[in-house]
Amino acid sequence: MSASDQKKACGEYAMKFIERGMKVGLGTGSTAEHFVRALAAADLGVKCVATSEQTTALATGLGLSLFSLDELGRVDVTVDGADEFDAQLTLIKGGGGALLRKKIVAHVSDMIVTIADESKLVDRLGAFALPIEVVDFAPDLAVREIMAVAADLGCATNEARIRVDDMGEPFISDGSHLIIDCACGAIPDAARLEAALNALPFVVENGLFVGLSSVAVLGTDEGVREVTAG
Ligand code: 5RP
Repeated sequence: MSASDQKKACGEYAMKFIERGMKVGLGTGSTAEHFVRALAAADLGVKCVATSEQTTALATGLGLSLFSLDELGRVDVTVDGADEFDAQLTLIKGGGGALLRKKIVAHVSDMIVTIADESKLVDRLGAFALPIEVVDFAPDLAVREIMAVAADLGCATNEARIRVDDMGEPFISDGSHLIIDCACGAIPDAARLEAALNALPFVVENGLFVGLSSVAVLGTDEGVREVTAG
């Protein structure tokens, strides 16, 4: 199966976690899109909250009922993709820039189902540059401080840079912030790094999700398989 077929298979498989009338968090990205399409097709009367403007537009077009997170309060299940995850289901997210809303929705979700093609499962997190959402104030200083924090925590950090869009302009998140992508190399302690980065005053949130997802649905050449935290 191609990566694209794997994404479709696991996005559709994740429907097994959804029951009629649930409050559902809609992830962002090409894998989450398959889930959103399957959810709309199933017509289960669910109440949804989206993790990005991109997913809001998709879900609205498909006729799903969208609510603000204030209206829903809590979410039964969120189904979302990832850029990398390990056997403990520690995740790196935010490759598409939606990490802040993803983490807020994750924070109030009773269950988080991660859906991904098999290329995303890694022995050690960090080959994918960690997205870090920062305020647009002294971003060059933020880059230096982020690199220092990562180095202090044992990451072989060699580069952090402000993300740019296709036009070479700074990428602006849904929350009107900048994203700094930090090439950490292997991350020895994701929980410590997540906390230390968030302690920097520049940082709004970072793309490490530790202890939040209880199950991953992995697309493989042999079909879909579930992975629980090891
Ligand atoms: C968007 C994300 C996505 O979940 C992540 O980038 C995975 O995307 P895809 O399913 O397209 O591989 O973090 O901000």
